[in-house]
Amino acid sequence: MTLLDHIWPTTATINSYGHLTINGCDVVALAHQYETPLYLLDAATISQHCRTYHEALQHGYCGTSSIHYASKALLNTAVAQFMAAEGLGLDVVSGGELYIALRAGVPAANMHLHGNVKTRAELEMALEAGVGRIVVDTLDELALLSQLTSHHSQPQAIMLRLAPGIDADTHAYIATGHEESKFGLPLAVFGEAVDHIRESPGLRLSGLHVHLGSQLFDDRPFVQAIELLLDRASWLRATFDITIDTISPGGGIGVAYTTEQAYNIHMWAQQVGRALEAGCAARGLPLPKLVIEPGRSIIARAGVALYSVVATKAAPQRPRYLHIDGGMADNIRPALYQAKYAALLANRAHENPVEQVHVAGRFCESGDVLLRDVALPYATSGDLLALASSGAYTLSMASNYNQVPRPALLLVESGTATLIQRRETYADLIIRDSALPVREKGLG
Ligand code: LLP
Repeated sequence: MTLLDHIWPTTATINSYGHLTINGCDVVALAHQYETPLYLLDAATISQHCRTYHEALQHGYCGTSSIHYASKALLNTAVAQFMAAEGLGLDVVSGGELYIALRAGVPAANMHLHGNVKTRAELEMALEAGVGRIVVDTLDELALLSQLTSHHSQPQAIMLRLAPGIDADTHAYIATGHEESKFGLPLAVFGEAVDHIRESPGLRLSGLHVHLGSQLFDDRPFVQAIELLLDRASWLRATFDITIDTISPGGGIGVAYTTEQAYNIHMWAQQVGRALEAGCAARGLPLPKLVIEPGRSIIARAGVALYSVVATKAAPQRPRYLHIDGGMADNIRPALYQAKYAALLANRAHENPVEQVHVAGRFCESGDVLLRDVALPYATSGDLLALASSGAYTLSMASNYNQVPRPALLLVESGTATLIQRRETYADLIIRDSALPVREKGLG
């Protein structure tokens, strides 16, 4: 059995048939049983990442802390339950995510509601459910929340998400901490926001928050953000005698997709923890609770996407195309962010690469090419292609473009695969439609 490297699930091996296995399951057998495209999630990898975060925070920070999984990375009932069982809270960003998490049995108190747009209905839903904290993004949202909570006997805990004006090195579409970002309150209106909260009996300022962006590999912007938040915390205490109890530097820890080094979570927690401890000591502040919101770094590596090669296309002097039965509708990331993935042939995983190919999705867009110039054994129709690190922001961003049903999702655990989200059917595609009343033809 051959061990695969750090972009594949921790339990990935190659068996004596040359098949990729995940957590004791032969993925070729799973593809036959459940058809492709198919997504697998390795339970052991998710658990290991959760454990690493728990330990890293315990060692890296003297104060209390909690981990809120950013459910936008991937959410359904089983995933919500899994995270709760691992001792994680949830960061939800819409009424839909909140609904799924509540229906999965996650206590509302362990959730934070995020988003630059929260509709009145979503805020009402969150207040009624009793979400732990609402992370306020705009002055308008604050005004609405103030109004909605004015008769509450218990004030709602809120955090203010600030736009810190910190540039983090990542793709422009997933950077969020820079000054022109649509997210967060500009620092210039922080005082106004605080005044508003002080005049709102239904609101309690519990904490300060930033989220700098996603797929980050540098500690420095996080440390800079902690300093900036502590300066505001110190000002709040000196000016209004308000002591905040929570600080959050958001999520965004980067993962390896191809040749990158995975971010060392212990080192990250140590840098952030140290910055908080030293920053609080220097300002005479008590240690706040540190809340972090990882999404990708919990779930990406646990996921493997399986596709069948349906056809190939050769042209002189150019790499061959492998045409697969999925693509941008189940993984928009290559088209949207030029994201790179690594792949292997899951049914011939022991074979060495012999050529560079492009892997084309099935959707009617020239931009639907999942991989370019990837080295593989000579592949033909019927081969099974596996993409690594496919757990985050793939199915959660999936669409029904071209009216292709979305793939099934299996959780694999100790040799057993459990279907946690079935494949969509053609009937699902018209479930929301209403037919027009029958019309007489040829009249008028
Ligand atoms: N907290 C907040 C407030 C966020 O907006 C996000 C992600 C996270 C936490 C989690 O970030 P993570 O640890 O997963 O990097 N679709 C893009 C990523 C968008 C991230 C949006 N916000 C992608 O596929 O790269």
